[in-house]
Amino acid sequence: MATLKEKRTCGQRCEDFGHFVWNSDNGTLMGRTPEKWVYISLYYAAFYVVMTALFCLAIWVLMYTLDPYAPDYQDRLPSPGVMVWPDKYGEEHIEITYNSSDRASWSKMSTCLHKFLEPYNDTLQKDCDHNCIKGKYFIQDHFTADTHTKKSCSFPVSLLGPCSGLQDPTFGYNCTMPCVIIKMNRIINFLPSLNTSQEIQVNCTVLEGEENVKEIKYYPDNGIMDRSYFPYYGNLAQSKYLNPLVAVRVDLVGKRWAKFQCRVVADKISYENIHDPYEGKVVFTLKNLHLEPSRMHNQGSAI
Ligand SMILES: *[C@@H]1O[C@H](CO)[C@@H](O)[C@H](O)[C@H]1NC(C)=O
Ligand SMILES: *[C@@H]1O[C@H](CO)[C@@H](O)[C@H](O)[C@H]1NC(C)=O
Ligand SMILES: *[C@@H]1O[C@H](CO)[C@@H](O)[C@H](O)[C@H]1NC(C)=O
Ligand SMILES: *[C@@H]1O[C@H](CO)[C@@H](O)[C@H](O)[C@H]1NC(C)=O
Ligand SMILES: *[C@@H]1O[C@H](CO)[C@@H](O)[C@H](O)[C@H]1NC(C)=O
Repeated sequence: MATLKEKRTCGQRCEDFGHFVWNSDNGTLMGRTPEKWVYISLYYAAFYVVMTALFCLAIWVLMYTLDPYAPDYQDRLPSPGVMVWPDKYGEEHIEITYNSSDRASWSKMSTCLHKFLEPYNDTLQKDCDHNCIKGKYFIQDHFTADTHTKKSCSFPVSLLGPCSGLQDPTFGYNCTMPCVIIKMNRIINFLPSLNTSQEIQVNCTVLEGEENVKEIKYYPDNGIMDRSYFPYYGNLAQSKYLNPLVAVRVDLVGKRWAKFQCRVVADKISYENIHDPYEGKVVFTLKNLHLEPSRMHNQGSAI
């Protein structure tokens, strides 16, 4: 077919193209009259304006229906994780190992706890007193606090008694009665228990080395996480919220090591998730490398 076409020189092709760009015979520009070009431009301009408007409307509707105070997507029924302090995170087995007669060793533990407890400082918490009713969920449907926020109940560190670091800045790590602190992660709008006759309670059991554990004590009493710290409404609504804590003080004897499991017991908190070993519970070992009997020195700090 190509052979049938007359051969055209480059100059002719350029001329053809120029003719296409501006055809003076019928007054068309690129095959259309200027008038048609104006119409087609207007059409596309209108088309894109409408598309943009639709897109903006969709985004606006989405943003309008999103609540900035709560997460919109939770992929499963949530149950909070549980953590223990002092801890070196990222390890499968949490081992709190120290040497009670080596100052550098136990001061690492107490420094970690002091740091962790800094926000719970009683003086910082003074302005957080909102007549929280102990034993009752602090349900707040309205934003009654300043700058459109909700109130948070205070958790002064003194509630942790001898594990507060106030009387004993070593948290018991210089002797045989170390303290660990149990914290449950926050979940927005979560009520741990719907059974009003059941307390939300930390319960530690000894998994190994039972003979080395003389006593387990909880602070606050009975390891109770008071209901007034729940529900949590999110960081935007409750930027001053502090998780309630439970301190566990263990009296280690004999070989001075044991493996513990501490659970937060409440009917909405599950703890048997094989995919998440920290859900509802935490397992850790406590080990004092110093073995010689030194109980005589400890009477002073025991409460
Ligand atoms: C514990 O610390 C004491 C004092 O520094 C030291 O004599 C002892 O060997 C340490 N024990 C262990 C098991 O590291
Ligand atoms: C608590 O905070 C106050 C004021 O910031 C400070 O003076 C005090 O030492 C802190 N207490 C503790 C135990 O850290
Ligand atoms: C541990 O520290 C506390 C507070 O500083 C002190 O009262 C106690 O005597 C110390 N215990 C030992 C065994 O050093
Ligand atoms: C509520 O808790 C109490 C005490 O733990 C228990 O006896 C009771 O069976 C629980 N009720 C329900 C409905 O789970
Ligand atoms: C803690 O758990 C153990 C074992 O499940 C149970 O026997 C014990 O009664 C619990 N203690 C409290 C205070 O709930």
